[in-house]
Amino acid sequence: PKERGWLFSHIYNYQGFWIAPRQLQAVRACQQQFLAQDSDIILVTFPKSGTTWLKALVFALVNRMNYPISGKNHPLLFKNPHDLVPFLELKLYVDGQLPDFSSYTSPRLLSTHLTYGSLPKSVQDSQNKLVYLCRNPRDTFISLFHFANILKIENMGISSIEEMLDLFCKGVSFYGPFWNHVLDYWKESMEKPKKVLFLMYEEMKEQPEIQLKRLAEFLECPFSIEEENCGVVDEILRICSFENLSNLEVNKNENLSTGEKNKAFFRRGEVGDWKNYFTTEMVEKLNHIIEQKFQGSGIRFLYI
Ligand code: A3P
Repeated sequence: PKERGWLFSHIYNYQGFWIAPRQLQAVRACQQQFLAQDSDIILVTFPKSGTTWLKALVFALVNRMNYPISGKNHPLLFKNPHDLVPFLELKLYVDGQLPDFSSYTSPRLLSTHLTYGSLPKSVQDSQNKLVYLCRNPRDTFISLFHFANILKIENMGISSIEEMLDLFCKGVSFYGPFWNHVLDYWKESMEKPKKVLFLMYEEMKEQPEIQLKRLAEFLECPFSIEEENCGVVDEILRICSFENLSNLEVNKNENLSTGEKNKAFFRRGEVGDWKNYFTTEMVEKLNHIIEQKFQGSGIRFLYI
């Protein structure tokens, strides 16, 4: 409805989640045309949960034989992770056609923000692996707020942080409601632990080695003792770190092939930045809905 502002004329509820109308064609093309392969690795996130970081880590991990991690020509030094691991549904496709992912070498690395229920059927039915990265809702929200408003990447027309939080708490946010997104993948990871791995941004920040090894085992490419002794785990973490990636020329001054500025994907990369923005009332407001929705799920968010 018009009276609810600009966002409502620019956001559309499709299959229970919110999406920009201009992405609808791409989502539909993906749902109708994408054919999953058993060897596919699909990275899934709610927007602003650390997608860029996850893409870098999985790319470096899976390709460590083809691209030695300390090599001077490693693709991560010259390309933004989003150009190395494309989104299934985010590009504006010509004539409603999905890009030709069939030419990608196996295992194909792809990503999506789609909810579990809206994934292409072939993804749900095949043996491929899904890696889900979840971030606490306060930092996710603040990251989204910056992406939307301050960086003007996607001018959602929201004037204040309070107004945006109000919508977020009502579930209105791209790919939201946040809770449905997270809970559906959480449930799948419990029921199908070989298919879905559920990672948390805060745990990756706190225990990066443990989480990277977990990821490698899930993807069936565990580190050998030799690799561990040679420091491969540390090297992957270093090359993919916020400090390293955000200081590369490609990520400071270049744009993605889809047009966005690479630097928009690197802001602070920390846990707890919400404290610089949230008032006590805002914490209470978000807690209220988060506690209600996540009650009994077993998920505990780390905020510090
Ligand atoms: P902040 O806005 O809190 O800094 P996405 O990649 O899903 O769009 O998420 C972007 C968020 O991940 C941003 O959070 C960004 O700074 C952070 N990020 C990007 N690269 C990172 C990295 N290598 N390590 C940790 N966080 C990273």
